[in-house]
Amino acid sequence: MKVENICCIGAGYVGGPTMAVIAQQCPDLMVYVVDQNPERINAWNNDDLSQLPIYEPGLSDVIAATRNKNLFFSTNIDQAIQKAKMIFMAVNTPTKTEGEGKGMAADLTHIENCARRIAQVAKSNKIVVEKSTLPVRTAEKIKDVLSENKTGVSFEVLSNPEFLAEGTAIQDLFKSDRVLVGGDSTESGKAAVAALVSIYENWIPREKILTTNVWSSELSKLASNAMLAQRISSINSLSALCEKTGASIQEVSRAVGLDHRIGDKFLNASVGFGGSCFQKDILNLVYLCQTYGLNEVAEFWHQVIKMNDYQKNRFATLIEDHLKNSGQKGNIALLGWAFKKNTNDSRESAAIYVAAQLLEKGYSLSVYDPMVKAERINLDLSILFEAQNKSEEQVNKLLANITIYSNLNAALSQADIVAILTEWDEFKAFEWQNYLENAPNSFRVFDGRNLLNKAISPKIYSIGN
Ligand code: NAD
Ligand code: UGA
Repeated sequence: MKVENICCIGAGYVGGPTMAVIAQQCPDLMVYVVDQNPERINAWNNDDLSQLPIYEPGLSDVIAATRNKNLFFSTNIDQAIQKAKMIFMAVNTPTKTEGEGKGMAADLTHIENCARRIAQVAKSNKIVVEKSTLPVRTAEKIKDVLSENKTGVSFEVLSNPEFLAEGTAIQDLFKSDRVLVGGDSTESGKAAVAALVSIYENWIPREKILTTNVWSSELSKLASNAMLAQRISSINSLSALCEKTGASIQEVSRAVGLDHRIGDKFLNASVGFGGSCFQKDILNLVYLCQTYGLNEVAEFWHQVIKMNDYQKNRFATLIEDHLKNSGQKGNIALLGWAFKKNTNDSRESAAIYVAAQLLEKGYSLSVYDPMVKAERINLDLSILFEAQNKSEEQVNKLLANITIYSNLNAALSQADIVAILTEWDEFKAFEWQNYLENAPNSFRVFDGRNLLNKAISPKIYSIGN
């Protein structure tokens, strides 16, 4: 089965970069990326490539090479569905905020809306691909919704989860560790799997393309994120013990990671993991386990999130304790807002939680991030405070104590102490030694990323040391 046109519903952090790379690697394929958010689509179509809605190293080059050649961004969802033989769904699947499973289960409203739209407008057979991260057995629900189409059109549903990490998305897409395609073992299911595999085969070696049943594919995505996050919580739990015992977390990480059975990746202690996915996907896994009565399994994975919350709270409390003990009133320069370097994404960033805790304790903050905009920073905090049921007046009062700067030196100019929350290269390159020599004795840099060499000054607190 030859596929000539594909479309992707959802032009976000996954849909945009993934489709751009497919378009570049498959010049004969027409790729339509659609979204219900016209601002986002306008930004993808902006002539000025520095204004793309997503910052990812290498992305603008891929967009420049493909846009309006075989990659098109538009809000015309129905037309794209009708043109495409294969439809990817890369819409957001956040944690539910109301109803059954509130605070735990994945909210599948956007996925269901996409499936409903496809059912309503499809006039020919389609392969529908789950690109979003979904609970196991979502394909069943999607098939139910698609069956609302009464025109005799047939649908195959595949699972093809995305494993890219933000900040390295383009590199990850070019050289994926693996591509996973889950499909039914019927003849039409196998043909659909083969059609998707043949797209990836344009640049991914065949042995790295795994084909499985749909449920294994859906679950493998949740399992991968849970196991990655588990490593961070494991090392972060040990960072607290290092601080009590005089061990150094970097030395422990290195010693542990040299065992090839364990490996050295994802063992950097930090202020806590962030990002739109780890927490929501683990909560989703916990909820699934509970639903199947696997309470011990649910509790095991829930602990990964609890440890992450503990680490964010522990870091903010260390800052508070220092300010209390040194009798300082305290303006704190928070360096970094993105959940990791090389992205403008701040969803679930540890910075939000550390900032909120410090603002609530009455401290004032000077924030600087090279990529996250001031409106986003204020919005992140407002959303958190509102979720904590604070009144508008309380939120405004808290936000009045935060000043957002557009460069590092300006943020430092008011600071009594500093907290590094994102590992941006700019923070590492700063002349800390000089700066700290001239700072008062009570000055501290709370390095939540172990970015600085602690040996250069006794004024550096580095996590897990
Ligand atoms: P995102 O919020 O950046 O983008 C989702 C887009 O979908 C939004 O632009 C939204 O307007 C659009 N949308 C929602 N419903 C729609 C509808 N009915 N019709 C048209 N457009 C609609 O989300 P994201 O970060 O790209 O994540 C998407 C999915 O991919 C999630 O399930 C996530 O867990 C998964 N994932 C994300 C990453 C990542 O790095 N962000 C990596 C792997 C997997
Ligand atoms: C993660 C996974 O790595 C991707 O494979 C997956 O596709 C994606 O989630 C998703 O499903 O959304 P991402 O969240 O973009 O990718 O970034 P990571 O590099 O995994 O970092 C997540 C968080 O963990 C960041 O806050 C990072 O700073 C933190 N981290 C990472 C640590 O604290 N220590 C580490 O050793 C590694």
